[in-house]
Amino acid sequence: MSSSQQQQRRALVTGAAGFVGRHLCRELAARGVIVHGTRRPHPGQSVAMVEAAMLHEAEISDRERLTAILREVEPTEIYHLAGLADVGAAWRQREQTYRVNVWGCLELLEAIVTIGMTNASLLVVGSSEEYGTVPAEEQPIHEDRPLAPRSPYGASKACQEILACQYARAFGLGVLVARPFNHAGPGQQTGFVCSDFARQIAAIELGLEEAPLRVGNLSAQRDFTDVRDVVRAYADLIEKGRPGVAYNVCSGRPVPIEDILGILRESAHQRIAVARDSERMRPSDTPIFVGSSERLQRDTGWSPQIALEQTLRDVLAYWRATLGAEGASARRGP
Ligand code: GDD
Repeated sequence: MSSSQQQQRRALVTGAAGFVGRHLCRELAARGVIVHGTRRPHPGQSVAMVEAAMLHEAEISDRERLTAILREVEPTEIYHLAGLADVGAAWRQREQTYRVNVWGCLELLEAIVTIGMTNASLLVVGSSEEYGTVPAEEQPIHEDRPLAPRSPYGASKACQEILACQYARAFGLGVLVARPFNHAGPGQQTGFVCSDFARQIAAIELGLEEAPLRVGNLSAQRDFTDVRDVVRAYADLIEKGRPGVAYNVCSGRPVPIEDILGILRESAHQRIAVARDSERMRPSDTPIFVGSSERLQRDTGWSPQIALEQTLRDVLAYWRATLGAEGASARRGP
């Protein structure tokens, strides 16, 4: 490695073109880091950049390709975001979830240690789903709580974390562990509650879909953080976190899903009728998740900055713009 590369921070973000990846690339670039990212190959579409990151195409299961990218980029820090993140869909795609989230992480770890790149810090992104169902009176959840995931997604994230920490102990890799609770923000795809609701509202406003807005379980309570605050936490963790120690990333405030719906409906341009949809109910849905981010705040000075109401306004604006632009291009034709 040349001396200028030694001084300059260089990040590799797996899953850089995804919802969180894009926000993270922007955050890292703003901190003066040179950012590279991986994204899955999309036949016929070659994209060189996302936000400020140079993109490299790679399946996360393709160790050879990952090895080549690591050699080329020579990252000083690696953020492993690639994976399946939809908790509801993971119930239907259990094997695929384990294959991508666990095996994919193994391929990355093997690529790193095989070429001896153990000086690079690695952030693995777990989930509050790793804790499983926690009685309300034992919340907010702290990181020392034993992991007991109920969902395939939560189990895949717990496996990923154990795997990465084993490589850390065995090979001296600096592994940072984040356990984010729910996050939302502009650019999030459907399959996540804020985007599911906001997209439907925007589609109804634009006359693309008819009311009612379809919803699942409204009684669940979740701890939401804006994605822009979440990625600040990831960058702070790489800079100031303790390797091998897990950190919750959350706001510490439980919000009923019914309130998310209420805030979004209040921001709508018209009255929106609502209907329950059994397809949107999950086989098992943890009733309440609220975390403590005390450890993260103490070690890094991080705290959430963006209010939930602002996040939801931004998500709705994102869907209005996205569906509006799609509608305009459909009217223009090919
Ligand atoms: N997605 C969705 N769509 N969820 C709905 C809907 C709907 O139409 N209606 C109600 N819900 C309820 C779900 O049943 C769940 O209780 C809650 O809203 C939140 O769902 P999501 O936003 O999809 O998040 P999640 O809790 O399943 O998972 C998210 O948070 C995890 C951390 O706790 C994801 O971001 C995961 O990747 C993340 O790890």
